[in-house]
Order: sequence, then C-alpha cells, then structure tokens
Amino acid sequence: MNIRWDAEGYTERFSFVPGYGRDVLSLIEAGAGSAVLDLGCGNGTLTRALQEKGYRAMGLDASEALLAIARREHPDIPFVQGDATAFSLRERVDAVFSNAVFHWIDRERQRDMLACVREALRAGGELVFEMGGKGNNRRIHSALGEVFKRHGYRYEMPFYFPAIGEYAALLEAAGFETRVALLFDRPTPLQGEAGLADWIRMFVKAPFEAVPEAEEREQMIAEAAQALRRELYANGVWYADYVRLRMRAVRL
Ligand code: BEZ
Repeated sequence: MNIRWDAEGYTERFSFVPGYGRDVLSLIEAGAGSAVLDLGCGNGTLTRALQEKGYRAMGLDASEALLAIARREHPDIPFVQGDATAFSLRERVDAVFSNAVFHWIDRERQRDMLACVREALRAGGELVFEMGGKGNNRRIHSALGEVFKRHGYRYEMPFYFPAIGEYAALLEAAGFETRVALLFDRPTPLQGEAGLADWIRMFVKAPFEAVPEAEEREQMIAEAAQALRRELYANGVWYADYVRLRMRAVRL
C-alpha cells in the first residue's frame, strides 16, 4: 500500500470509513471466541469492534503512524506491523476481515495478498471484506482526469476497483470459494464545506506528486470540486460517489 497517511486527520475527519465497515462484520460466520485478523486495521476502530463481538481480534497494518494510534487507543489488542502482500502469522486464524483496504493494492499484487491470506487461514476459514468496487468514485476520478489534462499532466488512477466477476475469479484462482458477493452504490456524506477538497487531499495523493507547486495542486483541487458541485453537492453537503464490493469467501 503506497500512501503516507495523515493518521490524525484521517482519525478526526474520516471516521465514517470504519463506521460503515461495521455492517461488514455481520458477514463473518465464525463463532465467538474465534481468532480474527483485521487486515489493514488502520487506527484499530474495527479491530475493537471485532473484539467487542467476542472474537480474539488482532490487527495488522503497514502504517506505523496508524498503528501508534491503534496501540494507544486499544492497548489490550495485539497489533503488528506488516505488508498485506507479504505477511505471515505465527498461528492460523479462523477468519480474516478487511475494510476499505484492498483497493489500495495494485491488481498485480492482489494474488500475493490472497496467497498470504490463504496461508494465514485454517482450512475452512473465511475471508470477509469490503473494498471499492467497479465504478467507485467514478465522477471524482473523471473530473480529476479532466483537470490534470487541462494542466498538462497525466492522471493515473491510483486504485483498483474490480467487478464481482473479476474478483471472484481471483479468489477462486487463489484457493477460495466465493459465498457472498454484493456490489452496490453508497453515496457517502463528507464533513464540511470543504468536504470534497479534504477528501481529495487525504486520499488522492499519488497523482499529485507529479505537480511540483502546492499552489497549482490547490488550484487543481478547487477546479475539480467546482466541476463536481452540481453532481455531488446537495443541501450544503458534499457526497463521495462510493460503490462498494462486499464479499465472503471460504478457504478450500
Ligand atoms: C474507498 O473506501 O472506496 C476509498 C477510499 C479512499 C480512496 C479510494 C477509495
């Protein structure tokens, strides 16, 4: 995952990310007392929710900044630093859970990640996750693409948003059986008058690395927000055009 997180800003202004993830927990079929890994646990909000549901929860994340918050807020939960595409656990778990993480991993690395997940699970164990699905933030990325073009830069889409069939094929090739698959729109309200600009600053970092001047970066963000106002701003609230892919798969 190639982002340097503004860990405190994320925790303060984007708490809706783990908030929505709570629904995903209900897809886990393992019973209380089962061992569950929260893969890409971030600040540990959902790892705590897993523990509160009676699981033996642990978290793994690449970001030391987010893990510092997780350890400070949840000192009784084990958190380990690791790369989702190259990790191993000392003991196998009954379930791997992940929310809003897999789309940060390039398509070419998904295979490596699923191989690690499979290795981390006992036979019959389950992988339950939600990620951005096909069409996620389509309007936002398309507006950014236009703005980049106008300013003479190339906009490289920094995320992987697969369709159900595509991801089910990856799961099956990696030794899983897909049991649940849902793709649905979830327009998501953002905080404040600068909600969309803040969202872009927080999450769309890589494409802006090609733009050397901060002033031009801000101008481009303002132009994108202006272009999206008619579609994504209503009654004083910005909405991000999220599409979720939610799946449950069992390790064969
Ligand atoms: C998502 O959760 O779908 C998402 C969040 C930030 C950037 C891209 C996608």
